[in-house]
Amino acid sequence: MGLINRFNEITLKIGLRTKIIILVVSLLLFLAVSVMIETAKSITPFLNQQLELQGLSTAKYIADRSPEYIYRSDIFMLYTIIRDAKNSNSNIRYIFIVDEKNKVMVDTFGNAIPKGLIESNEVIASEPHSVSIIDTEEGFIRDIALPISGGKLGTVRIGMSEKSLLEAKEKMLKGIAFTALLILLIGISLTLYLSHVLATPYQRLIQATREVAAGNMNFKVPQWPSNDEAGELTRAFNDMTEKIEQSAQEIEQLSIMRRGLAQKVMSVQEEERRWLSRELHDETSQSLASLRMGLKYVDDAQSLTEVEQRLNEVRKVLDDTFNGIRRLVTNLRPCVLDEGELAQAITRYAREFEKRFGITIDMSLDEIAGLSREVASSLFRIVQEVLTNSARHAKASQISIILSLVGDDIHLTIEDDGVGFDVTKVLPQTTENQKYGLFGVKERVIAFDGKLQVESTPGIGTTIYVRIPGEVLSCGQNQSDVS
Ligand SMILES: Nc1ncnc2c1ncn2[C@@H]1O[C@H](COP(=O)(O)OP(=O)(O)OP(=O)(O)O)[C@@H](O)[C@H]1O
Ligand SMILES: [Mg+2]
Repeated sequence: MGLINRFNEITLKIGLRTKIIILVVSLLLFLAVSVMIETAKSITPFLNQQLELQGLSTAKYIADRSPEYIYRSDIFMLYTIIRDAKNSNSNIRYIFIVDEKNKVMVDTFGNAIPKGLIESNEVIASEPHSVSIIDTEEGFIRDIALPISGGKLGTVRIGMSEKSLLEAKEKMLKGIAFTALLILLIGISLTLYLSHVLATPYQRLIQATREVAAGNMNFKVPQWPSNDEAGELTRAFNDMTEKIEQSAQEIEQLSIMRRGLAQKVMSVQEEERRWLSRELHDETSQSLASLRMGLKYVDDAQSLTEVEQRLNEVRKVLDDTFNGIRRLVTNLRPCVLDEGELAQAITRYAREFEKRFGITIDMSLDEIAGLSREVASSLFRIVQEVLTNSARHAKASQISIILSLVGDDIHLTIEDDGVGFDVTKVLPQTTENQKYGLFGVKERVIAFDGKLQVESTPGIGTTIYVRIPGEVLSCGQNQSDVS
């Protein structure tokens, strides 16, 4: 367990490139060593068998040719046969023939036969020949003993040296080792190249991630010239940073717009206070001063008729003051719409609007059940802003307003037949031009997870679509047409 953990620790520490190189090199080395061991193991018995077959065929040749000369005791011819046979095969270390009493008749040693060699191999009666392995200073010798004429005329003995066999084996293994080394070198070169191809995009991505983390959103990973996963990843990364950059710009834009909107709200508040103090001054202070004057006149009245007349005037001033204050209060009342009031409020506003601007308004308004005050007030404010735009910018003669429940969602569509405008051009510039109307509409719609769509064709008109998901509705969704 400890060993596995240690292995995991080391594996996690080293880089991808090193991992690939270690993996491929160790696999190739393992392969080369296995091939060499397997070859050495399987080639040795095969070569030994070949050596034995060579020795046996030479022994058979001598056993076939020699009886004639043994009968004639022609030692010279016998020697010629074994000498020629020895010279014909470099693996033959020695040949000698012994008679049936194991006495040497002829041999290729020149000097004395090594001690114990004659006794080292003997053919058992049931066997056609015998092979004995002798350990000598020159290495192992395979001694083959083949009886001549069933052993009656003696035995041919041939010593096959394993030396050249070993040399051949060594040469072969060297050849395999050289080839393995060559494959290893090619393998390492290919691995280096492959690991470069595999690891480089990741290294670049790591660097890019650091740059992006440091706030450099413009940083782009150089395009990896391949269509594999690395190329895909690079493209996806660049797309991602582009989108992040885009979102960051949008957020920046949004925060500028929101700041502007907040300032506008504050200045509207200031404007409202100024208007309120003016109204209070004009309506209330003036009226109260008139009242005081009126009462003073009542005091100064000479007759009851005069008192009555002056009191009537005071009452009139009082009525005017009362009406003025009521108008002021109505104007000041915040736009809070309870359930079932939205369609009515829009209708009321539209009728006043028609009178004020001379624009005809068609309406199809469903009173949507379960509409909260917030959503209803926002929808009312949206209608106000869009109608004001149609009056201010569109030079429209006809407007239509549709409020309905489509499926589960609330749909508000306002269309005018005015001059229209280039949406793609005008809307992105609203920040610098300090125009907050449509931005405010969008903010209100987003607050309820809704969607705003502005479509406009110059010369034809403008349509504003607002979609608010039904989740904002608090209860059952009944609807009734009030237009
Ligand atoms: N119905 C419309 N017809 C033609 N142009 C329009 C219409 N609605 C909006 N626009 C154009 O879009 C611009 C942005 O409108 P938006 O309501 O955001 O700003 P605004 O009305 O100019 O100023 P604000 O509403 O802040 O007082 C307008 O200035 C106008 O050019
Ligand atoms: Mg506006």
